[in-house]
Amino acid sequence: MTRIIALANQKGGVGKTTTTLNLGAALAERGRRVLLIDLDPQSNLTMGLGLNPYEQDATAYQVLLNADRGAGFAVQPVREQLDLIPATLDMAAAEVELMMSLARESMLRKALHPLRNNYDYILIDPPPSLGLFTLNALVAATEVLIPLQPHPYALKGLTQLRQTITLIQKDVNPGLQIGGILFTQVQRNNLAVTLEERLRGSALGTLVYRTTIPQNVRITESSASGLPVIEYDRSCAGATAYLELAEEVDSGTAES
Ligand SMILES: Nc1ncnc2c1ncn2[C@@H]1O[C@H](COP(=O)(O)OP(=O)(O)OP(=O)(O)O)[C@@H](O)[C@H]1O
Ligand SMILES: [Mg+2]
Repeated sequence: MTRIIALANQKGGVGKTTTTLNLGAALAERGRRVLLIDLDPQSNLTMGLGLNPYEQDATAYQVLLNADRGAGFAVQPVREQLDLIPATLDMAAAEVELMMSLARESMLRKALHPLRNNYDYILIDPPPSLGLFTLNALVAATEVLIPLQPHPYALKGLTQLRQTITLIQKDVNPGLQIGGILFTQVQRNNLAVTLEERLRGSALGTLVYRTTIPQNVRITESSASGLPVIEYDRSCAGATAYLELAEEVDSGTAES
């Protein structure tokens, strides 16, 4: 069965896009068939794969507004085993148009239905808000991966996100699971270590991935060059961490 993972956190800059791109590339390298969906008008994922968001004809924008067509028409191959549905910078208008439609939070789910046997993983990268794009991602998903920067306020935002997840589970997507919480941009200082230990020791502790992603400038450089970090510098700490995360995520998949 396809695992559809929404990388959600309404806080900006926590590593949603970076993780979508690099986890996706690492899973593809493991032989998995992977589709990435850029659901953010900022189009960072599209740009991070070296594509120009001004030049895309078929985008997540059309997918959401023409859900009956199925999402297949907007899929572009970007690497072996790795496909992308790109975003476009004027996608913000889609959110307004989407407001007008019935079942507006289920459009992505509907559009992905015909693709569900083509992939082992579909990773969705929404914007930093709990608006309609993020709701579409959570309704379409089978699980949520929550990237989190170890910060004193991070846990507050987590409460709000978990409330939203609970509502979605109750109303439209009872099968939605929290796949895990991922610490990103981790610096080895006392504050980060204390916060990580506190969360691992809390009721949420079992949800935290064993793998953490270190703060690593090679990660930023790789996105700016339009490459996954495993292609940019395979031996850097960031590449090692994302390969390890792919293994951890994949170990939750039954071998077929
Ligand atoms: N592990 C890391 N080490 C160093 N820099 C990182 C790391 N992860 C992400 N970054 C950088 O931090 C910035 C924010 O990351 P990213 O775009 O992935 O976050 P986001 O949650 O998708 O942001 P937004 O909410 O705006 O969509 C980017 O410039 C990215 O290159
Ligand atoms: Mg992003």
